Amino acid sequence: MKRELALEFARVTEAAALAAHKWVGRGDKEAADQAAVDAMRTMLNRLAIDGEIVIGEGEIDEAPMLYIGEKVGRAYHEEEAKDELEEGEVPYYTPVDIAVDPVEGTRMTAQGQSNAVTVLAVAKKGSFLKAPDMYMEKLIVGPEAKGKIDLERPLMENIENVAKALGKELHEMMVVVLDKPRHTQIIKDLQKLGIKVYALPDGDVAGSILTCLVDSDVDMLYGIGGAPEGVISAAVIRALGGDMQARLKLRNEVKGVSLENDKISNFEKSRCEEMGLKVGEILRMDDLVKDDEVIFSATGITGGDLLTGIYRRGMIAKTQTLVVRGSSKTVRYINSVHNLEYKDPKILHLVK
Ligand code: FBP
Repeated sequence: MKRELALEFARVTEAAALAAHKWVGRGDKEAADQAAVDAMRTMLNRLAIDGEIVIGEGEIDEAPMLYIGEKVGRAYHEEEAKDELEEGEVPYYTPVDIAVDPVEGTRMTAQGQSNAVTVLAVAKKGSFLKAPDMYMEKLIVGPEAKGKIDLERPLMENIENVAKALGKELHEMMVVVLDKPRHTQIIKDLQKLGIKVYALPDGDVAGSILTCLVDSDVDMLYGIGGAPEGVISAAVIRALGGDMQARLKLRNEVKGVSLENDKISNFEKSRCEEMGLKVGEILRMDDLVKDDEVIFSATGITGGDLLTGIYRRGMIAKTQTLVVRGSSKTVRYINSVHNLEYKDPKILHLVK
């Protein structure tokens, strides 16, 4: 993938974050998500790519959202993006698979809370695991602990091995866990053993990235979250040189057995079979993301551990975006100042 595409993808998450930001604190998750989706789609369709959404917002053909299987990029929207071509330019469209989460933290956005981001990961075709929208158990570490995790072994044994690799005492270790009822006991157990827990209310993609950043105290992420977010996390963790193992979980294994959960779990089981996946089987980094050549971009919607949120006064807005290129392992923070009056009309109407 051409390195210039990294900046193009940063522009995509910037636009999605600006669109979602209009809905911060307004109690409407769906509106925030839809605005971010619309902005993301508009921007993706202007890029010189032949793209397919492989991790998106729901299954096949859910038209208003960026659905799994949706084709994006100029290869499919030449007419719409004809202004992007220089005179006489022979178009080349880079073939890519794309994993998106237009709003990672819909609840936080709706409630005006911190740590909401908009994210996407792009790689060569066939690089990402195609997983249904279900739960996933995740164990993630940074580059110094690569090769030291094994989801088949108890969590405590993993923490001890990672601590050894990092040259840390157990009481110096910090583990991110989503602060959900399903993790209450694990959080208590870890704390009893003297391990520090960062109990994150929502947003395990941001939590995952913290394991790999040089200036972060976080050493590991453990817990159950969404599978789509899991594949996106794997993409950025691979790009940053970290490590991850995961296991798909049925809803009734996570939320307790009930008629409704059983029905959903049966559907999840059949989707996994169709996709050639086995529930409960260990997925290693190469199963989740096959190639290092990943471009990842995340823009802050509300401020958090990873990124500053959007500052807006009238039609001037500031964004911060994290861009990672897996092939060089470069991490870039792009601070932009936008004059929204000059945006493409299709974006302008979303942010005004
Ligand atoms: P949304 O933005 O889709 O709400 O996701 C937020 C999130 O916290 C993810 O980061 C995480 O993987 C998932 O929800 C956990 O699911 P649940 O909210 O069902 O516990």
